[in-house]
Amino acid sequence: MKKLGLHEVKKEFLDFFKEKDHLVEKSFSLVPKNDKSLLLINAGMAPLKPYFTGEVEPPRRRMATCQKCVRTGDIENVGKTDRHATFFEMLGNFSFGDYFKEEAIEFAWEFMTERLEVPKDKIWVTIFEDDDESFKIWNEKIGIEDKKIVRLGKEDNFWELEVGPCGPCSEIYIDRGEKHGCGKETCKPGCECDRYVEVWNLVFSQFDKDENGNYNNLTNKNIDTGMGLERMAAVLEGADNIFEVGEIKKVISEVERTTGISYGKDKKTDESIRVVTDHIRAMTFLISDGVLPSNEGRGYVLRRLIRRAARHGKLLGIEGAFLSELSSFIIKLWSEDYPELRENEVKIKKVIKVEEEKFQETIDQGINILDAYIKETKEKGEVVLSGDKAFKLYDTYGFPLDLTREILEEKNLKVDENEFNIEMEEQRNRARKAREGVGNGAWSKDDFSHRFKSFNTTFRGYEDIKLSSEVLGIFLEDEKVSKISEGEEGIILLNETPFYGEGGGQVGDTGTIKGDNFEALVLDTKKTKDNVIFHFVKVLSGEIEDGKEAVSQVDISRRNDIARNHSATHLLHKALKDVLGDHVNQAGSIVLPNRLRFDFTHFEGINENDLAKIEQIVNEKILEQLEVSTIETTLEEAKKMGATALFDEKYGGKVRVVKMDDYSMELCGGTHIDNTGKIGLFKILSESGIASGVRRIEAITGRAVYGYLLETEGQIDCVSKVLKTNRKDVVEKAKDLTEELKEKEKEIESYKGKMASSLADEIINEKRVINGINVVTYSVQNMDMNELRNLGDEVKNSLESGIIVLASVSDDKVSFVTMVTKDLVDSGYHAGKIIKEVSAVTGGKGGGRPDMAQAGGKDPKKVNEALELVDKLI
Ligand code: ALA
Repeated sequence: MKKLGLHEVKKEFLDFFKEKDHLVEKSFSLVPKNDKSLLLINAGMAPLKPYFTGEVEPPRRRMATCQKCVRTGDIENVGKTDRHATFFEMLGNFSFGDYFKEEAIEFAWEFMTERLEVPKDKIWVTIFEDDDESFKIWNEKIGIEDKKIVRLGKEDNFWELEVGPCGPCSEIYIDRGEKHGCGKETCKPGCECDRYVEVWNLVFSQFDKDENGNYNNLTNKNIDTGMGLERMAAVLEGADNIFEVGEIKKVISEVERTTGISYGKDKKTDESIRVVTDHIRAMTFLISDGVLPSNEGRGYVLRRLIRRAARHGKLLGIEGAFLSELSSFIIKLWSEDYPELRENEVKIKKVIKVEEEKFQETIDQGINILDAYIKETKEKGEVVLSGDKAFKLYDTYGFPLDLTREILEEKNLKVDENEFNIEMEEQRNRARKAREGVGNGAWSKDDFSHRFKSFNTTFRGYEDIKLSSEVLGIFLEDEKVSKISEGEEGIILLNETPFYGEGGGQVGDTGTIKGDNFEALVLDTKKTKDNVIFHFVKVLSGEIEDGKEAVSQVDISRRNDIARNHSATHLLHKALKDVLGDHVNQAGSIVLPNRLRFDFTHFEGINENDLAKIEQIVNEKILEQLEVSTIETTLEEAKKMGATALFDEKYGGKVRVVKMDDYSMELCGGTHIDNTGKIGLFKILSESGIASGVRRIEAITGRAVYGYLLETEGQIDCVSKVLKTNRKDVVEKAKDLTEELKEKEKEIESYKGKMASSLADEIINEKRVINGINVVTYSVQNMDMNELRNLGDEVKNSLESGIIVLASVSDDKVSFVTMVTKDLVDSGYHAGKIIKEVSAVTGGKGGGRPDMAQAGGKDPKKVNEALELVDKLI
């Protein structure tokens, strides 16, 4: 066997298939494109699905790749064993309707035996139980003896994902020798022990599995193969497992260096070292491909990886964040094969750091609480932690469920996942309701969509704001009616309309609809999923009748305000990408006449400088007066042009691209101004976080900026008047006043000091000697406890030895402070005891230390009586 490391196996493989006429492509992103069935790319074939199904013509019928993959189905086992990993690279050769079983098997055999020089007698294969064709090829053409061809069932030898291309497969195993085996007679590929290692899976991809689980025949017979790169390298290097492979070992060494703990010394720390070693690779590659931590989908996968690794770092004794530094090491080792890592280095490190620090803030608290839960559960003699507790840990302390589960498992406990999921669903419902609540008043409560299925309405509002059309349908409350009359509110459908129905974040148009004998206000316009547009109207006069002609007119000034804000969101989107990076993506927006709101993915707050820069860029693009044009084209074509497509919007056959000269190009169905100059001006009002990894900018344009200017100006004028100066000098004046105020405060402080010492002197004059002890009692007006204590200190300082009792009287209450110098404390006097009795005279309570005590009282009239008691007490 050749001794080859990770990079060399990869090179051998890709070179070999290049010679066999395959197009060698770079790894695709870990984030699937146009594939809702998959969270993350988990096999070499996943990004190539459309080539297998024939939906898209492949660039060549033979391809080969080394694909980055992430599989998290087994995340809890990662670390526990030395076989599990979440991130790995998969080598694969693919045929799209070109070669099939025979050549696929021959290529595999040639590569294994001639390029990698794996001894023929060490190779075993498995085939799908009734796949006689493959048996024949392996047996007769290749010459593998019968007993080394193992037939296995669907479970082992039929390869499939949830949906998509799939088929029976044949797996290639390498026999690592008896010393790795279980020694049983029956030991062969498929056995639980470590003797036979599966290194390559050849899938004869003939079916396309649909959502209902049907296996539909594909027109083409395809080949999809997958070789686990790390595993192959392990076998070739003679390593025991993937964590012993040269390149991976380097990562382990780095973790050892960071933690000061050696690998291979202890079961528990080994587990944690493996977790960190695996997860750091996964998170680095995921962020590089644009994933950001969040509470949903792939963002949540990333969050779990970072948080799980952070916790295991803690178990290894690391204080604080360390993963960000460690990711540099991954970037260094893998950036030659994946240059995007280097390009995204700053982002990768930042995202990890922010997420890790966020978790660090709550992890200790969370762990303490979980420990308390564990104790409580055990004390009750139970073995299952309730789901709402696990949910609280998730919700408040950011503990992903699997982290809680893992910690519980270490204590032989379980979590009620059903209950957890119910809590989670309830929270989602609450969030959904809250979102719905901000809709359009009463109308938003009802979904009228299904009633309008049979209608056909055409939107003409891109070109016209006024047009004549026919009334197609009228609805009053829940019912279809033939007319509505003066004073009534209802819904009207027209065959053609200039009114924009709310969509893509843009509010619906308002305006008027008039006919020969009626006039109605359009209060709002919406559209159904099938683009049927409906108008909420209030009839001002006359009657609207089905089938009648109507002239619709959009409120143009409002429409223009909306268009200004909508166009500004496009400029803002691009400016955000320019300043913060390409990871910024729209996550939602609201475009109203008086303001706009833009939500986007970004991992931290935007600093003042960047925010100013973003605002400035948008304003420059406005002043450059860029022409705004729209193009109708296909989705494919639009993407080729480089248009930004929004998150999960569904586009029909034709898409509309809104282009602002060369600066911005987005798929969008909204209404826009035709030149950015018409936006007027753009002003950001606020920037904030709305969910983990999602930020929000609120801004205004045009008329609203003018209003904002007037308001700000008015405020400045007002301030100037109050400060008795003019606008020009107002800042100087404010500064002067603040300075002056500071000076005055200083003066007041010094007067207070002086007054306190003269008062102290006066109090000391009241000193009398009782039983050989200096006693001072005094009553002042309106001092708070703090001032009273300071006064007490002052008196005590000038009195070498003595007992001081001070009272302060205000409207309806009394405060007391008692102080006893140290010598008298030593001879048994106790400030706490004295004050208790003194304050009791005024109906109060109190106590304290032997040297100092304070108390409150209720009856100001009895203060003197209370102070007189002091002498008697002493
Ligand atoms: N798609 C096959 C696998 O992932 C080759 O194993």
